[in-house]
Amino acid sequence: MSIKHYLQFNDLTKDEIYYLFDRAKWIKDQFKSYKKYWPLEDRTLVMIFEKASTRTRLSFESGMQQLGGSAIYLNTKDSQLGRGEPVEDAAQVISRMSDVVMIRTYDQEIIERFAENSRVPVINGLTNEYHPCQILADIFTYIEHRGPIEGKTVAWIGDSNNVCNTWLQAAELLNFNMHVSTPKGYEVEIERAGLYDDSHFEEFENPMDAAKGAHLVTTDVWTSMGYEAEQKERMMDFADWQVDSDMMDVADKSALFMHCLPAHRGEEVTAEVIDGKHSVVWDEAENRLHVQKALLEYLLVGEVK
Ligand code: CP
Ligand code: NVA
Repeated sequence: MSIKHYLQFNDLTKDEIYYLFDRAKWIKDQFKSYKKYWPLEDRTLVMIFEKASTRTRLSFESGMQQLGGSAIYLNTKDSQLGRGEPVEDAAQVISRMSDVVMIRTYDQEIIERFAENSRVPVINGLTNEYHPCQILADIFTYIEHRGPIEGKTVAWIGDSNNVCNTWLQAAELLNFNMHVSTPKGYEVEIERAGLYDDSHFEEFENPMDAAKGAHLVTTDVWTSMGYEAEQKERMMDFADWQVDSDMMDVADKSALFMHCLPAHRGEEVTAEVIDGKHSVVWDEAENRLHVQKALLEYLLVGEVK
């Protein structure tokens, strides 16, 4: 049987994604009503982190436990990976001792090399290029609050980073539109984003124009992990790309605000917006848990009839 990995958003088909959303809803309902559901009893998830995390670690670790399995945390700093053991060798060994692996690292190429040498499914927990689990949770959250996302407009304000690239892949797959506004020099790169073409997104010089009429406004930090050396320059370049109340006022009146978190109030978003009436950031964070449980179940036991 071929192994299914989840290294970028479009590794799953549209049908698989909607199947996951159905499962996530069911799994969430079970959990909220204190019903035990242990499809992954005796299964082990290994989580490899090369970058910091709060949400991703917590949601995968507690999610795995709630499904009856267990999770092991490995940090590259205190494992042999940090001392130069080849990724290919680590993949061979780790995948003989576990049932599924989640990795947060730098280049997408690292996770691809790991997956090529793994006997078990590999999940991308964030790379420089993509953050697919985040966007699964974000879209699930949108649907919970507002219904279908197909045909809707999502405005991305800020850096064309891993989260933005993943939103763009999702727009292609699930057929919605992206309005993207980045400062000059930080524009979307179609190939890096893993897109077929630019048919599902439009770029705007002025962030207010991108937000106009949008059903969801979303942003992220100006400086992602791994780009800290550029922080000073980015603070200046991104100063006009802040989501504030004026921007939310030009969006559709039903518009939601999302942020993958952690956020910097006063930089990419004002406190008024992230703590205000449009914001669903806490539901968004919680839903990481529920969608990832559905993902783990799907990758390990397949479709549950
Ligand atoms: N959104 C997200 O992935 O958060 P962490 O960096 O805390 O895992
Ligand atoms: N774009 C951010 C997301 C953090 C969850 C980063 O890569 O640091």
